[in-house]
Amino acid sequence: MIVCSCQCISDTDIHAAIDWMRAADPATIITPRRVYRALGKAPDCGGCMKLFLATMRGNHNLAVPLELRNLRGQVAAER
Ligand code: FES
Repeated sequence: MIVCSCQCISDTDIHAAIDWMRAADPATIITPRRVYRALGKAPDCGGCMKLFLATMRGNHNLAVPLELRNLRGQVAAER
């Protein structure tokens, strides 16, 4: 299914990019911009962003690495 019609990006492309990024760096934070960049593209109109994000959220490799969760709370507790 095509998710981004401006750049002709499919849901399969998005999942492949997320899986590749997670395999390359288990601690990376994966954002839509990074997915676009991994695919060698950049967003144009932005009209796909809601569906783009929903597709990303469907990937089990998207989760923020455990060691990077709740950092804001840790900083506040140290003050
Ligand atoms: S549809 Fe994705 S940037 Fe336009």
